[in-house]
Amino acid sequence: MKLMYWLLVCASCLACLAQRVIEDRDTEDVLSNTETELMAWNDDTGYVRSLVQQNNMVQQPYITCHVLNALARHPEAVDDPASQAANDNLTCEKELGHFLADVERNISIMKEKMEKLERKINAKPKSCLEVPRGVPRVRLSLEDGTEALCDTITDGGGWRVIQRRVNGLENFYRPWKDYKFGFGSLDGDFWTGLETLHELTKEDYYEMRVDIMRKDKKFGFAQYTYFRIENETKAYKLILGDFYGTIGDELGPHRNMKFSTRDQKNDNILKKTASCAIKFRGAWWFDRCHKSHLNGVWGSTAFGSGVTWKAFTGFNESAIFAEMKIRPVGFG
Ligand SMILES: *[C@@H]1O[C@H](CO)[C@@H](O)[C@H](O)[C@H]1NC(C)=O
Ligand SMILES: *[C@@H]1O[C@H](CO)[C@@H](O)[C@H](O)[C@H]1NC(C)=O
Ligand SMILES: *[C@@H]1O[C@H](CO)[C@@H](O)[C@H](O)[C@H]1NC(C)=O
Ligand SMILES: *[C@@H]1O[C@H](CO)[C@@H](O)[C@H](O)[C@H]1NC(C)=O
Repeated sequence: MKLMYWLLVCASCLACLAQRVIEDRDTEDVLSNTETELMAWNDDTGYVRSLVQQNNMVQQPYITCHVLNALARHPEAVDDPASQAANDNLTCEKELGHFLADVERNISIMKEKMEKLERKINAKPKSCLEVPRGVPRVRLSLEDGTEALCDTITDGGGWRVIQRRVNGLENFYRPWKDYKFGFGSLDGDFWTGLETLHELTKEDYYEMRVDIMRKDKKFGFAQYTYFRIENETKAYKLILGDFYGTIGDELGPHRNMKFSTRDQKNDNILKKTASCAIKFRGAWWFDRCHKSHLNGVWGSTAFGSGVTWKAFTGFNESAIFAEMKIRPVGFG
């Protein structure tokens, strides 16, 4: 009764597949459909196919069918197939046809769902909002092919880090094109290009946060209810909302200022030859010149030249950690 054994296995396996189809429909959009699940589906589908082939069910419908009928109607007669009525053959042939068509249909439904799951698993996220909370720093390959660093912890997470000073390995005294397109490494120090910042913030309503630590290991933050960077024609002008936080509103004075680098002076010092970016060896939305300058020289104690936020670090000291980060308003 090898055949019967296979059919029993097959029947329970199909019942289980049917159950999965229903369950999956119920939770279609829930992301609990993991890769493991997908592999199980794959295995099951292959298994059913191999069963159908192994038992040659298409070529020998009568025998198979006979056993099916026996199981359904005369469980006690299974060991004695000869006792089945001759007309079992006819009805059974029909049933088996339906059965096989049903299996094929279910397999194709499963395949479709598998492909859908596969697409879901392989889909690239659009932003840091899609990263589960709880892992401190997550690197993300975005849909548009770029990479981002997410802060999934601070104040509810969902932040995309846009500027970072953490180890001093990156030089921040750089020309316009570097600040336009971005530089550095997501694992260490970096600046996200102004062009990216403009593209991001022109679409959505973003808030911005600064997290900073000074030499005595004291942490502080500044948060702005709105943050937008205008386009290059407007020299990436800084548009800022209201401040709240623990380190003083030292970016506020830079509201509506244009961005300046060592090779592009857009500051408000009247003297054409004097440049804030050159004087303080960095790049920022300088006025005349600054109250904060997170792109300053790492570790510098030269007046106003370090990684500074005046009310928190003073001008003679450099922060030992700083991050700027943004997220769409209404998330946290
Ligand atoms: C095919 O799937 C349906 C549910 O979608 C189920 O009711 C039916 O029993 C399945 N057919 C087989 C042969 O497993
Ligand atoms: C069922 O049909 C097959 C093929 O026609 C035949 O060999 C077999 O004897 C039939 N079985 C019965 C119980 O009539
Ligand atoms: C920049 O924005 C201004 C409007 O704010 C627009 O007039 C100008 O054409 C834009 N420049 C580019 C290069 O898109
Ligand atoms: C910072 O340094 C400048 C000169 O470099 C000095 O005049 C000033 O008193 C210093 N401020 C503090 C708070 O040490």
